[in-house]
Amino acid sequence: MKLNLKIWRQKNASTKGKIQDYKIANVDPDMSFLEMMDVLNEEMVEKGEEPVEFDHDCREGICGSCNLQINGKPHGPDTGVSTCQLHMRKFKDGDTIVIEPFRAKAFPVIKDLIVDRSALDRIQQAGGYISVNTSGTTQDANAIPIPKEDADAAFYSATCIQCGACVAACKNASAMLFTAARVSQFALLPQGQVEATNRVLAMVEQMDKEGFGACTNTGACEIECPKGISLENIARLNREYLKASVT
Ligand code: SF4
Ligand code: FES
Repeated sequence: MKLNLKIWRQKNASTKGKIQDYKIANVDPDMSFLEMMDVLNEEMVEKGEEPVEFDHDCREGICGSCNLQINGKPHGPDTGVSTCQLHMRKFKDGDTIVIEPFRAKAFPVIKDLIVDRSALDRIQQAGGYISVNTSGTTQDANAIPIPKEDADAAFYSATCIQCGACVAACKNASAMLFTAARVSQFALLPQGQVEATNRVLAMVEQMDKEGFGACTNTGACEIECPKGISLENIARLNREYLKASVT
């Protein structure tokens, strides 16, 4: 396939960026999107041009680093996959593809397509943990019986990879789906109850401090989430927040 690429180039957070045009030929439909970007960068290096910076790590849908806005959609046109799992067979010969960084006030551009998503780390650090004494006398987790339905629901909430696609998809750049998934994974388990009140209040406070917008229930986040984190998590977050606010 031959493709026309329109890629956002930006030197750093304090300079203005712009879209630049590139052409690439011999793209194999079985290549991943990131492999296509690798080929483009190799060609640019050979020509003495500066390659396009983009974030990636695991390249198997686990780490959440590969956050590209492709033709206006976080992680591109496929569903239930992150950018590293997107394949070029989703595009046609001659297509024009617009590639931009995730857009949100709380995600400043570091360079080209890389944004700073440490705001999500700070929400997690505000309360997304349980305090356990790990001195050697810790009770085995399996000694606490947990209904299978609750364990499964907690597991699905915990599959959030912190990619930020929910933020990029939201017209308000809200981080509610992310925060809700992280609160839910603890709210559903007995181990999470001890710090439940402080956790939800602290995580929501941090979310607001970071400059993310409010949730207006449009549901774009759920549609674009590569892990299918459902809006039920947001409903649970709201219940947990209300409960914590009156205790
Ligand atoms: S909820 Fe989904 S879209 Fe949002 S950070 Fe987690 S995995 Fe990414
Ligand atoms: S590179 Fe890790 S999820 Fe894509």
